[in-house]
Amino acid sequence: MSSTWKPGVALGGLILLVTSAVAVIHVSAQSGSQGVAARQVTFTKDVAPILQRACQNCHRPGSMAPMSLLTYEDVRPWARSINQKVSNREMPPWFIERHVGIQKFKNDPSLSDDEIALIGKWVDAGAPMGNPADMPAPRQFSDQNKWVMGTPDVIIKMPKPYKLDATGPDNFVNVLVDPGFKEDVYVSAIETKPLGNGFRVIHHATTQMVEDDSDSSGVFFNEYAIGKEADIFPPNAGRLIKAGSKVLWNLHLHPDGEATDVQVEMALKVFPKGQQPKYVEFTQHMGDMSDLDLPGSTVTRTDGYFRLPKPAMITAFQPHMHAVGGAMCIEALYPDVRADSARPGAARTDTINCVSHFNFGWSTTYPYAEEVAPLLPTGTVIHVTAWSDNSPSNKFLQTDPRNWIGSGQRTIDGMAFAWMSLFYLDEADYQERIKVRQATASTQNQQ
Ligand code: HEC
Repeated sequence: MSSTWKPGVALGGLILLVTSAVAVIHVSAQSGSQGVAARQVTFTKDVAPILQRACQNCHRPGSMAPMSLLTYEDVRPWARSINQKVSNREMPPWFIERHVGIQKFKNDPSLSDDEIALIGKWVDAGAPMGNPADMPAPRQFSDQNKWVMGTPDVIIKMPKPYKLDATGPDNFVNVLVDPGFKEDVYVSAIETKPLGNGFRVIHHATTQMVEDDSDSSGVFFNEYAIGKEADIFPPNAGRLIKAGSKVLWNLHLHPDGEATDVQVEMALKVFPKGQQPKYVEFTQHMGDMSDLDLPGSTVTRTDGYFRLPKPAMITAFQPHMHAVGGAMCIEALYPDVRADSARPGAARTDTINCVSHFNFGWSTTYPYAEEVAPLLPTGTVIHVTAWSDNSPSNKFLQTDPRNWIGSGQRTIDGMAFAWMSLFYLDEADYQERIKVRQATASTQNQQ
């Protein structure tokens, strides 16, 4: 089924968006397996550095993943399974389509094609250890009990722990807390952490701000998953918490054999009272598709749209779908503002990103590297295309694929929209940033 939603390679007009991403692809194609061809691939020299960077955050003793991948002895029994998970791109959990759209993100743990090929070669050669002297120094992990952002101004905590049983199915828990915000507050950094052993069992913890009773699911505020540290906004950018907002946490918990008290806390750095940042960074739904009509045993495509009322910089994307979610792409449809583009035919468009194998278990947010974050003019339409997979090939489906599914709030109901983080800019600021990008793009082209 997956091949039906593979989007075409949209290289067309992507100059502003992906020039530097293309450069990155070239760099990674040159590193990696070249030069390794002549000698044997070994754990200590080739594989351990990859696991340190991309896996050990979760795969180490006491962390959330089922096994440690620190030493050769830890890794050897898993060699085949690792090969399979990385070549299917199920691990690390990062589901951005790699041949379409922007490829440069903050904190991207994903493996290059070369790294995956290297792991394959190593496994094919019998997963040899190699020379112990080649083993890189162990990776140091940040202290679970320390705030990476520095000393917070405000800490909001779950009033009491949620008791997770030792065994059983995954638990999805909502916790609503009133932190008592009496006036609007602008936040410059956010960091969410589980207390104690909670990080072993927390798949994700998302925070929504419930601003009023009319929208009980609230506005997206922050997401924690293991290894995720602080969201520190660019200088002069902040996120608004409206007076009276309540914090709604959604916890996805995975029992790991030991009963665990789960409690999270969230730390904030805030702008001084009365000071408002130049850019207000916020996250909203785009392209909500209501009234999904998803026949059984079928992949159904739906489309949603959002028109930008002002020039905007998109800072992050997160597809939101439920168990029936299959894939999502976001695309920019530009307004025809240039005199020379008043031509018949299709509008100028760029595919921003696609997630082709949506994985209901992981609510991964994809934060753009600043220099490639989509910078879009007034009137651009964000086109969100979703594919809901109500067929037997969707292994996350919790219902019989012969059943019809409609829209709804439950995880077994259909839902599809994009969480987009963005800030608006004024026209002069937008034009200035476009100039800087064009200048950077042309120097890169000359190299
Ligand atoms: C963000 C945390 C995280 C990262 C990063 C991560 N894993 Fe995992 N991994 C998990 C969790 C949790 C599971 C078990 C649940 C699941 O499969 O989603 C898992 C499962 C696995 C499994 C299957 C284990 C089994 O019981 O069959 C393998 C193999 C694996 N990971 C290898 C890797 C490799 C190799 C990397 C790095 C290239 C990696 N993982 C990166 C969290 C992570």
